[in-house]
Amino acid sequence: MKKLVRGLILLILFSQMVVSQNREVNVLNTNWKFHKGDVEAAFQVNFNDSKWETVTVPHDWAIYGPFDKKVDIQKVAIVQNGEKIATEKTGRTGALPHVGSAWYRNTFIIPKEAIGKKMILLFEGAMSEPQVFLNGQKVGEWAYGYSYFYFDVSQFIQAGANTLSVKLTNKEFASRWYPGAGLYRKVSVIVKNKESIDQWGQFVTTPIVSEEEAKVTIKTKVSSQNARLVTTIFDAEGNQLNSDESATLFGNEFEQNIKVFYPKLWSTETPYLYRVVSKLYVGNELKDEISTRFGIREIKYEPNKGFILNGKVTKFKGVCLHHDLGPLGAAVNKAALRRQMKILKDMGCNAIRSSHNMPSFEQLELADEMGFMFLAESFDEWAKPKVDNGYHRFFDNYAEKDIVNLVQATRNHPSIVMWSAGNEVPDQWGEEGVKRAKWLQELFHREDPTRPVTVGMDQVKATLASGFGALLDVPGLNYRVHLYDEAYSKFPQGFILGSETASTVSSRGIYKFPVVQKKNMQYDDLQSSSYDLEACSWSNVPDDDFVLQDDKPWVIGEFVWTGFDYLGEPTPYDERWPSRSSYFGINDLAGLPKDRYYLYRSRWNKKESTLHILPHWNWEGREGEVTPVFVYTSYNSAELFVNGKSMGVQKKNNNTPQNRYRLMWMNVKYEPGTVKVVAYDDSGKATEVKEIQTAGEPCQIILDADQKTIAADGEDISFVTVSVVDKNGIVCPTATNQLQFKVSGAGTYRAACNGDATSLEMFHKDTMKLFSGKLVVLVKSSTTAGNIKLEVKGKGLKSGILQLVSTQ
Ligand code: GAL
Repeated sequence: MKKLVRGLILLILFSQMVVSQNREVNVLNTNWKFHKGDVEAAFQVNFNDSKWETVTVPHDWAIYGPFDKKVDIQKVAIVQNGEKIATEKTGRTGALPHVGSAWYRNTFIIPKEAIGKKMILLFEGAMSEPQVFLNGQKVGEWAYGYSYFYFDVSQFIQAGANTLSVKLTNKEFASRWYPGAGLYRKVSVIVKNKESIDQWGQFVTTPIVSEEEAKVTIKTKVSSQNARLVTTIFDAEGNQLNSDESATLFGNEFEQNIKVFYPKLWSTETPYLYRVVSKLYVGNELKDEISTRFGIREIKYEPNKGFILNGKVTKFKGVCLHHDLGPLGAAVNKAALRRQMKILKDMGCNAIRSSHNMPSFEQLELADEMGFMFLAESFDEWAKPKVDNGYHRFFDNYAEKDIVNLVQATRNHPSIVMWSAGNEVPDQWGEEGVKRAKWLQELFHREDPTRPVTVGMDQVKATLASGFGALLDVPGLNYRVHLYDEAYSKFPQGFILGSETASTVSSRGIYKFPVVQKKNMQYDDLQSSSYDLEACSWSNVPDDDFVLQDDKPWVIGEFVWTGFDYLGEPTPYDERWPSRSSYFGINDLAGLPKDRYYLYRSRWNKKESTLHILPHWNWEGREGEVTPVFVYTSYNSAELFVNGKSMGVQKKNNNTPQNRYRLMWMNVKYEPGTVKVVAYDDSGKATEVKEIQTAGEPCQIILDADQKTIAADGEDISFVTVSVVDKNGIVCPTATNQLQFKVSGAGTYRAACNGDATSLEMFHKDTMKLFSGKLVVLVKSSTTAGNIKLEVKGKGLKSGILQLVSTQ
């Protein structure tokens, strides 16, 4: 009886692994016990963790703050930024308490029938230096927090309760941005037969692609010498296409080649996905079965043409993204990624660079489905350091393992069109660095002969002289717009990639006067101007890149730094507290578009027109003063009216890069009222109109959800944009009201973010100030379906109420 009761308790408390199929992937997402700090005995089975916090994974222990200047205060010269003298820096890694050790423990049940099977423990990322224990015994360790890694734990597993303990340690000064902390990506236990397909053992390629047919090559590594593999291709609708059965092993690998007639090609506009299902038999017994999603597409890189996707020269209209998700920190969340990618899609963006490390599986899945090309990066450091405790500590022992895992785990994603072996590595200097570049590139080629390799280079002269840049498949230039011509003429590849561009700084809804182009500008409020004319000593404004992209056919595209603001690296205010997140984003930390969003959209989105006016028109105190008006538009000319008076027609022209890509009325004097822009098509016909108005006092809270129906899976999120309007319904662009949030029903309040890089309000608290009139509230589903109500209140304001629904 006692035993039975104990069994029942275990079942209630712990996840029961499913093992009924040949292969089961059990994601360990609930019932984790977490403790910040090191407890030596925490790996032991009988350790009492009942007082520890219960958390779900993905989890980021540092995002709950508080922000604290002391976390990452440092006297340092940031050499990559051209600094020679050490000064006091703060907020470089987000000023969030990510440094130190912590433990996670999870107990799960393995039924008796599963003993003797193969068990794989898979981590999709663990920040950082994970030490992994099962049932009191160490099963392995890793180093880099961004790597995917797995251990075969068959010998450590026992029938009944199994205790997994993971220790993580983040050193200070290990990163140039906020790294996050903890088990921030998924952890799973895979249970399969001894005779089975290896972890990441399948590689699907499409070496021949034409309109009529494609050859699909499927290589599959297995652990069994006398098996046969039956592989079938299915289309996106689930129709069975061709199959192949093979009993011939090359070493431990099957190779199957299957034809697909009239393939539907994967592209950014039509991201069509097929699936191969492979069944491994020994005799007549089915031993394993896996399903791999892939796309049929052809990629080529050719001199003077550049990148060619399915026969069409295609420029990268890309953004760089760090891995944090603003208010969620580093804890990966598919709804948050999907929202980001929808915003990018609307901007016309077609490519993402996972700077400067391995992307999450979730992000790659979405890129395949939504049609983004992906530049998957590996490292920010090789053997030479940028920060005291960076990857250089691990390079010699881990670089090969990390690249193998990156490539093997992700190579079936059609979205990945290029690998990056590194970003601005100091190893660009010196012969050792050239050797490392060659070694790393060859590792990528060995693991994946189908995609080229780049490195983001900032030391262009050095890499020209040393052969470093010449040996790369794709020479990537970070900034250095003045060196593109020289690089093109001297590098042998015949094209140049803007692997990192712009690094323009701006704060959403903040404008500074006079309006002039400047570098390294600082203001007392620690914000940067949204006229989009401010950059850093090494960087430039967007228009300078546009000129290169448009005038040099051999420039194959750009990856703008960055698509969204991220935690840490608060340039140009890294010496001024409380600045703690970036200003580089096209969108702010809350995912709200800054003006620059519309500048890129006006170029990149070829399907819809763009007509956007800046600045806002609430300038009490500036009456009669020059307040330039910019219009970011896909039209070539437009006329501006202030309170009905024409300010004249502006036409894009080649006088300056700005004149070429923006319409600018530099002499407008501010008077409250209405600013209207009328856009003309190329025949001179008035085609579209946009208007903004001076708002009165804030009166009412307005809520606007990105999705009103969410999945009742405990993970989905509705992102609700909160703004305030005056009594006439006009949006108040400068409002800073303190608001309170309440969620009731079948969901929970998760976080809020206003995009202000200087805010010290914690994201998970249920109150926050508006920044430039807006903020975003994140409402998370629970696991029960039902209605969810969000109420947002503020003193003196009519509350906002929003009904959401979660469904099973
Ligand atoms: C680049 C670097 C990025 C970021 C950026 C800011 O040099 O690769 O990680 O620091 O500068 O402008």
